[in-house]
Amino acid sequence: MAGPMAGPMTAQPTEALSGTTRLPGDKSISHRALMLGGLAVGETSIDGLLEGEDVLATAAAMRALGAEVERDAGGRWHVWGRGIGALSEPEDVIDMGNAGTGARLLLGILASHPLTAVMTGDASLRRRPMARVTEPLAACGAEFVARAGGLLPLTVVGSREPLPLDYRLPVPSAQVKSAVLLAGLNAPGETRVVETEATRDHSERMLAYFGASLRRSDIELDGAGAKEVVLSGQPELTGRPVTVPADPSSAAFPLVAALLLPGSEIRLTGVGMNPQRSGLLTTLQEMGGDIAIENAREEGGEPVADLLVRGSSLHGVEVPAERAPSMIDEYPVLAMAAAAAEGRTVMNGLGELRLKESDRLAAVARGLGLCGLSVEEGPESLAVEGCKGRPPGGNNQPIATELDHRIAMSFLVLGLASERPVLIDDAAPIATSFPDFTRVMQGLGAKLGNA
Ligand code: S3P
Repeated sequence: MAGPMAGPMTAQPTEALSGTTRLPGDKSISHRALMLGGLAVGETSIDGLLEGEDVLATAAAMRALGAEVERDAGGRWHVWGRGIGALSEPEDVIDMGNAGTGARLLLGILASHPLTAVMTGDASLRRRPMARVTEPLAACGAEFVARAGGLLPLTVVGSREPLPLDYRLPVPSAQVKSAVLLAGLNAPGETRVVETEATRDHSERMLAYFGASLRRSDIELDGAGAKEVVLSGQPELTGRPVTVPADPSSAAFPLVAALLLPGSEIRLTGVGMNPQRSGLLTTLQEMGGDIAIENAREEGGEPVADLLVRGSSLHGVEVPAERAPSMIDEYPVLAMAAAAAEGRTVMNGLGELRLKESDRLAAVARGLGLCGLSVEEGPESLAVEGCKGRPPGGNNQPIATELDHRIAMSFLVLGLASERPVLIDDAAPIATSFPDFTRVMQGLGAKLGNA
């Protein structure tokens, strides 16, 4: 990865943030819009697509599978799909870069197409578990040959006569749920997924929007509540216009920075407010964060709103394990908020955090330790003692970002709110999800620069 953000970067203590900004498009929704566009008949136009490296990898993959994918001069994307089951065999290895969502969802599509494909990714993605999707997908008749431990690179031989799947998620994962549903698109009959903990439902919403027939119900399972999604196979998907909301997971960085810097006042417009993504907002409000939700509305089947955020004195809280799926990508930046809060913050149910672009639980604990904070890392939990004000900050030793965009951005936020600057070793991974991060944050007044 090269570009303006490659290499070390420093965040200097900053006074206050101010201004209004529209953040880049939602990464989860952007991947799905390109994939469903490629499976639909006719044209899908996409406004606000995230032009981060992860999503560009998905665009390239859909092109390699025969969909036409173009960006016009005005920044709108257009996809002309091939129809369900009609993607063609790629001529070369598909490289998904750093994109776990792109890789896992695409494996769902490939599993029920009569083609052979080889998939790889960067050093981070090649360490991440793929068996969580290849195992359920094999039941539709696909074959997978992966490296030991189910790692990329892997070869998929898609099923010629895919069977419908019936799968209960063993871990709360929207990626696994989505991979199964996408495979089910080209199988006759009904594909069913059951989840005991609700995960983001962007796939279900967008499938319905493109014309798939999908039933969602609350059911009882082993005496507890669960959610069931049933998809009728082989629908005709029709290309549609999609407007991608601003990514709440990207909004999290200016949002937390503004809360931590007294006197700040920023407005973030058009932020996705899907209830399965809003755990961070709930938690920060519980901590005393002044976040006003304005102008709530719906855009393209997803709830969005503007957020008015003001500098606040935060206090520590205990975050329940059940909230984890609705804020799984936000724990690193929440830990930075906890570092400046009064008292102790305890985060539970974080097992999945170890399987992201890096082991985020370990990376956050190690980095906060380097920045003078007192933390306790459990197997699935993290406790942070807050400093009630500015944490000490860095000691010129760079924080290792480990090919992880959210670790990079979280520690830069910490640097803005600390006594001393915080240095990260490599800002390049930020381009996977938030290519304009430095410019947007500087526009709000953040002191960020190449070290
Ligand atoms: C995503 C789901 C989450 C999340 C990831 C995006 C998605 O992963 O961490 O950044 O778009 O479905 P899991 O579903 O594996 O938890």
